[in-house]
Amino acid sequence: MRSLLGAGIDTTIHSIAQTLHALATHPAEYAELVADPRRAKFAYEEALRFESVVRQNYRTPSRDSEIGGIPIREGQKVMLLVGSANQAPSAGVRPWTPSTSTGSPAEAT
Ligand code: HEM
Repeated sequence: MRSLLGAGIDTTIHSIAQTLHALATHPAEYAELVADPRRAKFAYEEALRFESVVRQNYRTPSRDSEIGGIPIREGQKVMLLVGSANQAPSAGVRPWTPSTSTGSPAEAT
C-alpha cells in the first residue's frame, strides 16, 4: 500500500508542479491557456511529455537483444532515460508546446 501511495502521490504532485513551472516560464502559452482554459488538459499532458515526471525506468531483459544497435545481454540491467529521450532534438522532439498538442479543445471537456 505504501508503494502504491508513493507511485500515485509523488507523480501527481510533481507533474502538477512541473506543469505550473512550464506555464510560468512560457508566458505566451500561459496567455493562450488563460484565453481558452479548455486547453488545460493539453498543457498538463505536454508537461508530462516534456518534463517527464518519471525520468527513468529499469528493465532486465529475459533474452539477448539490442537497443539502437547496442547489444544488450540477457540479465544485463538497463536504465532507460525516458526524460532525456523526451527532450532529444536528435530524435526530432519538439519544445514544450501545449497550444499545438494533438487533439481538440472539445476532447478536453
Ligand atoms: C502523473 C501521474 C503518473 C505518472 C507520470 C505515472 C508513471 C508511471 C510509469 C512511467 C510507470 C511504469 C514504470 C515502469 O514500468 O518501470 C508507472 C507504473 C505504475 N504506476 Fe504510475 N504514474 C502516475 C500515477 C499513478 C497513480 C495515481 C497510481 C496509483 C494510485 C500509480 C500506480 C502505478 C502502479 C501500481 C504502477 C506499476 C504497474 C505495473 O507494473 O503493472 N501511478 N507509472
